[in-house]
Amino acid sequence: MIEVKDLKKSYPFGKSKIEVLKGVNLAVEKGDMIAIMGRSGSGKSTLLNILAGLDQPDSGIYLYEESRITDKRMDELANFRKKNIGFILQNYPLIDSKNVAENVGLPLRYSKKSNKQRETEVTQVLDTLGINYLKHRWVDMLSGGEAQRVAIARALVQHPDLILADEPTGSLDEETEKDILDLCKRLNHQGKTIILVTHDQHVAAVCHKVYYIQGGTVVDK
Ligand SMILES: Nc1ncnc2c1ncn2[C@@H]1O[C@H](COP(=O)(O)OP(=O)(O)O)[C@@H](O)[C@H]1O
Ligand SMILES: [Mg+2]
Repeated sequence: MIEVKDLKKSYPFGKSKIEVLKGVNLAVEKGDMIAIMGRSGSGKSTLLNILAGLDQPDSGIYLYEESRITDKRMDELANFRKKNIGFILQNYPLIDSKNVAENVGLPLRYSKKSNKQRETEVTQVLDTLGINYLKHRWVDMLSGGEAQRVAIARALVQHPDLILADEPTGSLDEETEKDILDLCKRLNHQGKTIILVTHDQHVAAVCHKVYYIQGGTVVDK
């Protein structure tokens, strides 16, 4: 599904630059659930953002189902994301002035679907995650675990094949972390490919494979 070859990425730093990714190689099969670990600042988020099509590397190749993402323009990248990627972050950035259903429906806002269709799709994804009862709540009243589930629902509403999660349980207590992990496992069983960035051994333990970013490259130990 994914093939990454010799990916390099640096950021400007004063007059010089920091080389974050120095030649990353990675292959991910459809249906995989993999963890990426590594020290803070090692480049985990940098890699995930590139896989999500949110950023482009300086050099190297990123193939997604044979399609060369590294050649795409910004507008093409936006389409690629919309069609294929569900992105989940540590701090579930929801919009406080909207309720749960409105937040989950946000990605559908520019689609050609009718309001009725959008509502059905939002209801479906909330049902799948077992959180339909939260539908009309204001998001600033949710617990951390509920908010993360809502953010996951929003990431899923367009039926992406690939879910990228950047420390999705990083802000949650242990119990809630377990619930979110179970949810990830369930999504994986339903056929979603999942790449999780994590610090946490519990999280890594449920994945099929664990990779580490070390010295700017990806290794498996
Ligand atoms: N947009 C940016 N501009 C400059 N430096 C950045 C930027 N994003 C990340 N970095 C730097 O790149 C390195 C890797 O960051 P990151 O990928 O966020 O690491 P991780 O997610 O593993 O903690 C860090 O040294 C960070 O400060
Ligand atoms: Mg990070």
